[in-house]
Amino acid sequence: MGSNIELLHGDIVYSESGDSLTVRENAILAVEDGKVRDIYAPDALPEDLRPLPVTDYGRSLIIPAFTDMHVHAPQYEERGIRMDLLLSDWLNQCTFPEEAKFADPDYARLVYRQFAQDLVRQGTLHAVVFATLHAGATDILMDLLEEQGIDAFVGKVNMDIHSPDFLCETAEESLRGTEAWLERHSGTESRVRPILTPRFAPTCSFPLLQGLGALAKKYHTGVQTHLVESKWEAAESVSMYPECGSDAGIYERAGLLGEGPSIFAHVIFPTAEDLRIMKKYGSFAVHCPDATTNIIAGIAPVAAEQAEGIRVALGSDVGAGHSLAVYRQAARAVQLSKLKEFYEPAESGTISFADAFYMATKEGGSLFGKTGSFEKGYDFDALVITGQEDAGVPLDAAGRLERFCYTGDDRDIAARYMRGKKM
Ligand code: GUN
Ligand code: FE
Repeated sequence: MGSNIELLHGDIVYSESGDSLTVRENAILAVEDGKVRDIYAPDALPEDLRPLPVTDYGRSLIIPAFTDMHVHAPQYEERGIRMDLLLSDWLNQCTFPEEAKFADPDYARLVYRQFAQDLVRQGTLHAVVFATLHAGATDILMDLLEEQGIDAFVGKVNMDIHSPDFLCETAEESLRGTEAWLERHSGTESRVRPILTPRFAPTCSFPLLQGLGALAKKYHTGVQTHLVESKWEAAESVSMYPECGSDAGIYERAGLLGEGPSIFAHVIFPTAEDLRIMKKYGSFAVHCPDATTNIIAGIAPVAAEQAEGIRVALGSDVGAGHSLAVYRQAARAVQLSKLKEFYEPAESGTISFADAFYMATKEGGSLFGKTGSFEKGYDFDALVITGQEDAGVPLDAAGRLERFCYTGDDRDIAARYMRGKKM
């Protein structure tokens, strides 16, 4: 059977590393069986491609789709509300009551459908998602994400202590429910996969965490949680589990690391021990600039973490963040790095836009295989971005991409492709 080849013309921009953008203006990208075959100048197309039709996007940008490495689907209705609170009050006053509503499958379907549609609208085609402790609603979310045709890791949340009665399980219930849920989702070909999701150390007993560690081993499952996200959380975690030595040490001791990917949201106040453990397991730190400025306070030491060899990707963290636009998180990551440099010069270093875009695409995408770049053999999971130029004032492709991340929105996303297929 012959292969399926499609040619797309436009201004192509992607990352190979965080050092610089790769820019191919006025170029043709050949997609073969859903993957990038190569990129050519229009007058240098190889013989076999010359007879094929070209989808011409003119001077529009063709870029890799975004990856949101940390987002809470059940907090979609909280976005942009009560952002004047700080973490603990925000959880207790807003988030726990909102998440409790997901006991009702109809409410779950109503909100999760709009969440899933908005993800795609914003150009996020890969996501790592928290649901709630309700396994039934988590299944509904997984079905809706699958229907949208995107890649995702989704977690049924575990929490058994220091939680309100209306949003709490016993460790036994939580483990039983989690195992039944893992059973339902294991051995499938689905692109929407389960990931263990202890909420964070303050709401998880050690027997619960150890039980999850055993499930990680049995089902070869990864883990996502929140790590040293605030001074309050960091102090609380270590005082609850002093024998573990650090927040990351809690998950290591419980046997949750090393069976699959480990994804730690925020990592704003890591100790040397946290960083050592994350490096050992190849964990991701997820920088969530909007959440940081809304309800957390404290700026992740992104440049220092990268210098330690930690993989740092970006997350919207809706509803602590107020928008699903990962491209805006790229812009804000640059902005926050400047503030950090100014206020905490001893522990920082500004980051470039090229680095921020890399975190939003290739670094996060690496969790899902070969996606997030247009190097040869990568999945063609892509967006077409129009506009960004004022009439009569030309702007080069790199400038238009940067401006899109700062000032653009979903109306500028003219097309989305997943594995080479237009969505
Ligand atoms: N820590 C524990 N739960 C949460 C949550 O839902 N959002 C954020 N940002 N931090 C948390
Ligand atoms: Fe979060």
